[in-house]
Amino acid sequence: VEETYIMVKPDGVQRGLVGEIISRFEKKGFKLTGLKLFQCPKELAEEHYKDLKAKPFFPVLIEYITSGPVVCMAWEGVGVVASARKLIGSTNPLQAEPGTIRGDLAVQTGRNVVHGSDSPENGKREIALWFKEGEIVQWTSALVSWLRE
Ligand code: GTP
Ligand code: MG
Repeated sequence: VEETYIMVKPDGVQRGLVGEIISRFEKKGFKLTGLKLFQCPKELAEEHYKDLKAKPFFPVLIEYITSGPVVCMAWEGVGVVASARKLIGSTNPLQAEPGTIRGDLAVQTGRNVVHGSDSPENGKREIALWFKEGEIVQWTSALVSWLRE
């Protein structure tokens, strides 16, 4: 089954948006398989965003992600990677559609409250990067037959 790594960034935690953000994925019908509050070390932030290393904003991005605790989540479901990206909205919150997390809750790219993996491969890579073995829980949701025919 497809899985994605979703993270409430430090601004989302500080602004009290954790419950709201978790709710959006819960209500959509995806399954939570991992969840923790975590202070991200610099090295991990750099590894997570290594593809952006050459960007001029890389140092401020690392500073942002390590500026306070984040909430790390693993979510599972059919098409969860692309669907979560749609629920999250465009990188720049001013361009994100109303109804999306960033469109409803944020105003600036450098404070866009949430992360979502951009491919199933990166979903797996990022879950392995942010979670230890034993922190991911496989369970059967009683709702499956009400979510899928
Ligand atoms: P993530 O889900 O966090 O990966 O965002 P994304 O996939 O929508 O965007 P991308 O992977 O291109 O960039 C990663 C993150 O870097 C963004 O979510 C922003 O937090 C930050 N970022 C991207 N572009 C800029 C920028 O121009 N300035 C600043 N300050 N931050 C940026
Ligand atoms: Mg990205």
